[in-house]
Amino acid sequence: MKKKWLYPAVITLGVIILLAIGSRIIPGINSILGRNSAAAEPEFVLLYAENQAEDYPTTMGAKYFSELVSERTGGRIRILVKCDAQLGSEMEVLEQMKYGGIAFARVSLSQLAEFVPEMNVLQVPYLYKDSDHMWRVLDGEIGDDFMAKTVDQNLVGLSWYDAGARNFYTTSPVTCLEDLRGMTIRVQESDMMADMVSALGATPAKIVYSEVYSALEQGLVDGAENNWPSYESMKHYYVAGYYTIDEHTRVPELQLCSGEVWEKLGDEDRQIISECARESALYERELWQEREKTSRQIAEKSGITVTTLTPSEKARFRDAMSPVYEKYCGNQMDLIRKIEEYN
Ligand code: GCU
Repeated sequence: MKKKWLYPAVITLGVIILLAIGSRIIPGINSILGRNSAAAEPEFVLLYAENQAEDYPTTMGAKYFSELVSERTGGRIRILVKCDAQLGSEMEVLEQMKYGGIAFARVSLSQLAEFVPEMNVLQVPYLYKDSDHMWRVLDGEIGDDFMAKTVDQNLVGLSWYDAGARNFYTTSPVTCLEDLRGMTIRVQESDMMADMVSALGATPAKIVYSEVYSALEQGLVDGAENNWPSYESMKHYYVAGYYTIDEHTRVPELQLCSGEVWEKLGDEDRQIISECARESALYERELWQEREKTSRQIAEKSGITVTTLTPSEKARFRDAMSPVYEKYCGNQMDLIRKIEEYN
């Protein structure tokens, strides 16, 4: 169920916060925000949306970002990180960011690509050889060019966060393409990810992240796909005990600022925010490496079955992706080749 009631609540809170911009004293704002009235009055109090849990690498990156910004602006800019999708699903958050109701967020590129379709090129299945390859691309001129594409949606791209590689996990074993056929697999609210699953012979079901556990538990779907930390953090391994490593996608995540809010900031503050975002991303990427390992250990210890696709089977999965490349990257094959060969 989508949290529709959140819209008015978040927009109201957003309006209160925007009212605080440029003003030093807002009667009652301290009590609304639960702050100590003796603390220095910030000039900006801005919301940051995150759909992962408190101890997840991306949330810890967000908190680090908030601390850095507060430190470097002498407390003038306060960023309140709301995790666990308290501010809504990623799609709802992106909608609200366009109007400034939410100032910052970290979102999966799959969701952003629904607003900025060119982004699909960066997450098309089996594109990157490994993590280092993806980071060379994202940290180079291609990554910069793509980050700038969010402007049309009134969003400012700040930094790339890591989300590792995604794999399938199911309620019965998947060791070859035939095993997936006929299964219903949960995907993000993304047309490309739905088409990827169809191309593999399964039926896609677009379900919001917070509801995947119950969809698996109730048997509405036979499986889902995600990275190790999400599989573990959301306890999906309790209800889908077969994890098949095929690393079909590497879907990076973007830290964003609402264009409405960006407009109201001065050059110096924009500079500080950009720098802090990049530093927080480096921190998140380090945490990610660790968390991938510990999440895998936790899930494996619980008794799940892990299968790594053989190279020849993985080649069959990859070959099945031709219609996806045609539909989403048909006119960008030169760029795809450039990414594939990027050093
Ligand atoms: C990852 C990503 C989330 C996203 C989720 C999903 O966990 O970090 O931002 O919502 O995938 O599958 O929906």
